[in-house]
Amino acid sequence: MTSSTALQSIEKHIPIVGNIHTKSPIAYGATRLAVSAVNAAHMAVAESYINGLEVPDSVLRSLFDTCMPVLFRYFPSLLTAYEWVLTETDRTAEGSRDLMKIHYDLPQAMLNPMLGDGKLIYPKYTMGLWEKGAANLEQSQMQMIDDVIEKLDIQDGDRILDFGCGWGCVPNYILSKFPNVQFTGINLSHNQCEYMRQKMQDPESYLSSGRFTLYEGDLNDANFETKFDKILSIGVFEHIGNLTKGFQKLASFLKDNGKVFIHIITVRIPNNMSSPFLHKYIFPHGRIWKYDAVASHNKDLKTIKNWYLNGYNYSTTLVNWLKNFDDSQAIVKDLDYGMDYGKFRRIWRFFLIWADTLFASCDGEYIGNGQYLMVRA
Ligand SMILES: C[S@@+](CC[C@H](N)C(=O)[O-])C[C@H]1O[C@@H](n2cnc3c(N)ncnc32)[C@H](O)[C@@H]1O
Repeated sequence: MTSSTALQSIEKHIPIVGNIHTKSPIAYGATRLAVSAVNAAHMAVAESYINGLEVPDSVLRSLFDTCMPVLFRYFPSLLTAYEWVLTETDRTAEGSRDLMKIHYDLPQAMLNPMLGDGKLIYPKYTMGLWEKGAANLEQSQMQMIDDVIEKLDIQDGDRILDFGCGWGCVPNYILSKFPNVQFTGINLSHNQCEYMRQKMQDPESYLSSGRFTLYEGDLNDANFETKFDKILSIGVFEHIGNLTKGFQKLASFLKDNGKVFIHIITVRIPNNMSSPFLHKYIFPHGRIWKYDAVASHNKDLKTIKNWYLNGYNYSTTLVNWLKNFDDSQAIVKDLDYGMDYGKFRRIWRFFLIWADTLFASCDGEYIGNGQYLMVRA
């Protein structure tokens, strides 16, 4: 027995440490109890803040800065708030309508300025790429998309599907660079689709070029008559609970020699991660897939290349979103969120601060973004 197998075998019986998937039944049960305690503490901090506890941002940050590295390095099995996160769900994506209501269909006048709403770079709700020297949020998003263009090897004339296309930022930017590319986007968020429909009437937008087709609908029901040369999905598989079904779907939309590019938040620990705060207030049914989950679930597609992007990229993006959110208080305070604005603001500030420190913890090496280039299996 090698020393690492001997260690794994001891860890199998010790609650909390090591890989939750290999635990003996008693150690597994004890670990789940400890998870409940950690989650109760996490929610107590979150809800005290949400309900009005005055704490400077620096105190919140130091609390997360202290706890997260310990959890990532020594107790990763405590980061799976729910047992359902360890396995695949029945449907491709669960609770999509709740997700739209709680999150994606929030007033555009709040989300759009937070994400940045430029002439070419529309609101983009995913990591900007900062490691190539971007000077601001807009540049970081352009550089992120340029990087995708290169990795997916987009060619002029390609027919491309954007699976979960947000506000159409990625299609608009890519259409501006390639005069013969055709894009199809699908998104369930009515408000985001309204934004794109307006752009499709705006002569200054590349979405009005006649080369962009929009489907407002659920990924669970997606079906297309044409097959695509390239499929990209950026920041969407966090909402997909069944990777196998998700990839099966994408494979059925792909030409024989086509390519798929997936970009997701990922975590380099042995199990998938979740958070009770995120599930309740921000992304119902959201999960963070462990880095090797994609390669181990794709029966219909195979991963030919993958990249880990350091969490610093997302952390810097989130710092910018928090600043934009704080700077737009005069406008956003009077919008309708279905709850008292003070509470809404605290939920979002907690989310943005927690997320930015999370991505920065452990020098960005544990939680960051995963990118996967796939072809038909
Ligand atoms: C984090 S955003 C990323 C958007 C875009 N790809 C980007 O990079 O800006 C996730 C997107 O997926 C969409 N989405 C999530 N679940 C969906 C579902 N079940 N069906 C269709 N769209 C969905 C959301 O409305 C949102 O536009």
